[in-house]
Amino acid sequence: MVGPVAKSKVTYRCRECEHPSGRWAGRCAACGGWGTIDEAPAPLPPARRQPAPTLIGQIGADAEARIACGVAGLDRVLGGGLVRGSVVLLAGEPGIGKSTLLLHLLGALASTGHACLLASGEESRAQVASRARRIGIDAGPVGFLPGRELQDVLDAASEGGIGVLAVDSIQTVRDPGSPNVTGGVAQVRAATDALVGLAKQTGTAVVLTGHVTKDGDLAGPRALEHAVDVVLSFEGDPRSGLRVLAAGKNRFGAEGETAWFEMGPRGLTPMDPTNLLVSGERLSGAAVALPQRGRRAFAVEVQALVGATEGPGRRQATGLDPSRFQLVAAVLERSTGIALGRAELFGASSGGIRVDDPACDLAVAAALASASAGVPPPEGAAFVGEVALTGQIRSCPAMPQRLAAARAAGCRVVYAPEGSAAPIEGMRIVPVSRLGEALTWASMPASRRPRSLPA
Ligand code: TYD
Ligand code: MG
Repeated sequence: MVGPVAKSKVTYRCRECEHPSGRWAGRCAACGGWGTIDEAPAPLPPARRQPAPTLIGQIGADAEARIACGVAGLDRVLGGGLVRGSVVLLAGEPGIGKSTLLLHLLGALASTGHACLLASGEESRAQVASRARRIGIDAGPVGFLPGRELQDVLDAASEGGIGVLAVDSIQTVRDPGSPNVTGGVAQVRAATDALVGLAKQTGTAVVLTGHVTKDGDLAGPRALEHAVDVVLSFEGDPRSGLRVLAAGKNRFGAEGETAWFEMGPRGLTPMDPTNLLVSGERLSGAAVALPQRGRRAFAVEVQALVGATEGPGRRQATGLDPSRFQLVAAVLERSTGIALGRAELFGASSGGIRVDDPACDLAVAAALASASAGVPPPEGAAFVGEVALTGQIRSCPAMPQRLAAARAAGCRVVYAPEGSAAPIEGMRIVPVSRLGEALTWASMPASRRPRSLPA
């Protein structure tokens, strides 16, 4: 088979003075000679340096050396710090705090003597410096580079001595050699590939930020998750201060590990989420769920609102998995008789934290039943269990962690799938096998139901 023949690129050169030019002309612009311009083949690209193979047995343990960041929680999420030569993608919605987290990271690394370079296409050097001052980070020793041109970033980082390169963001890096749009999937992929190459060649640890859209889609970055070693997602409701950093893919540590932060006027402060996500008040329409993230579980309030409507019943979920929210509402109606069909249903998680563990189904059902009946759940109660289409409550993994999280949040009773949990000290388990059994507290005479609800 005959492939397309590569055409050698033609340039021109003056026979007299060797002056090169991009196109032919009758007179040389340099020496003024007439008819002296000849075609000249473009110079060959410099010979590629062949990397010499290494015997795997000779690769020392330091090849996976870790750089501890010194930011509480971040090291744990990374599995013990940044790995040299690895590429980490920090993904999150615009405004969630990626640049701020990056600055905390670089400040901490620089203070322990690591050479860091920040290539930012998002902010000017003045903006970065003023933010660092405002939140009290000594970013003095951190190198800064306007990070819009890929080649500039690669050149600066491969000059040597750079331990950590941060690129904020991968969507603002431009490769002039590529005809594609900046921020488009093809450019983002090409820039990431080049930075992965740099990391592997030089041993520099590279951290990239990537913007995701509201529904979690990484315009571009999702397509590059396979190319990087670690994907960290930074989440939370930008209107509230609570942030959770969670490891998705991690070649060097546990997937699902989480760290919690509070965004305040002085940047991000590590925090323990245990009590923050549960108000402790008994409110109609709020129930405590115990989702699991990685090896940890935490307590979080899920909230529901049931409103009357003449038209089709709208369902809207924030922080909860919308399809599970609809499914739980449908099963709740079918198996308990609570009329929701013509109602508008809203569901949310406290702090906008993503709660999509199926073990939260029972808490979502409890919040809906509570909102519908106008009766708060029993005092100090939390709910765990996956709701099956039949209305049965299925058991869930990691019960000891969930019970511990419930206890830490001040709960004293957990409604849990029958036979799934051994009681722990100070905690009563209410075993449930069907949805109706778990929600007896919400059943009340129809006469006491809010009148605005459809019968
Ligand atoms: P930023 O790190 O710029 O987000 P991203 O890089 O993900 O787009 O954070 C921006 C938001 O964080 C902005 O709305 C202001 C808020 N913020 C604080 O509340 N406190 C602070 O100390 C800083 C630096 C930012
Ligand atoms: Mg930013």
